[in-house]
Amino acid sequence: MPDLLHAVNVAPSILSADFAHLGDDVEAVLNAGARVIHVDVMDGRFVPNITIGPLVVAALKPLVHGAGGLLDVHLMIERPERYVEAFAVAGADVVVVHQEACTHLHRVLAQIREAGVAAGVALNPATPVETLAEVRTLCDLVVVMSVNPGFGGQSFIETSIAKIERARAFLPDTVAIEVDGGVDVHNAATLVAAGANLLVAGSSVFGGRDIGGRFAELAQAATEAV
Ligand code: DX5
Ligand code: ZN
Repeated sequence: MPDLLHAVNVAPSILSADFAHLGDDVEAVLNAGARVIHVDVMDGRFVPNITIGPLVVAALKPLVHGAGGLLDVHLMIERPERYVEAFAVAGADVVVVHQEACTHLHRVLAQIREAGVAAGVALNPATPVETLAEVRTLCDLVVVMSVNPGFGGQSFIETSIAKIERARAFLPDTVAIEVDGGVDVHNAATLVAAGANLLVAGSSVFGGRDIGGRFAELAQAATEAV
């Protein structure tokens, strides 16, 4: 399971899936080879939007774990420490909290690992990588947000490429780097070359017909040399 975190992988974000047919959409990407399923949790406070909670993670767990995949849960919520346990019990394999949402980030990262799951921190576009100096050994994953969180389908912020390079140089090799927002077939290889190994993709996978084909095309692009 942890190897999936460190290999180059495209992580489809279900935020852009058809929620009336969520299981079918997730099955389509799993059948096309996806093994990291990204789940965006929003509370209407940390970000303007409201999405889903532990019930949906629990519902997807048999499907995703049955295929040997992992559930990558991105908490865009205030005081995320209140929900770490609930998502871990529901089936999350990785719990990501926002640096900006945690007064006591050091404690929250320890709490996530104590819950038996991998610990991730996401950084908004305005938050420097260097703010993780004192907690970098407590992270399994760092998420470089390449859009301001809250919605799918936004434009990629180009300065994120240099930020990923800085993150790769700054973080221990054991820390995986995920990039989230505006990823598509045109920038995927550049993002991997910059040092990201997990590419979250919402609208570029679920935003059209032939979800499996769109996933496969993006996964292929991610492994092509720039
Ligand atoms: C944005 C979410 C993303 C989102 C990405 O706040 O964290 O995971 O689903 O969507 P796209 O790939 O469409 O930018
Ligand atoms: Zn996300």
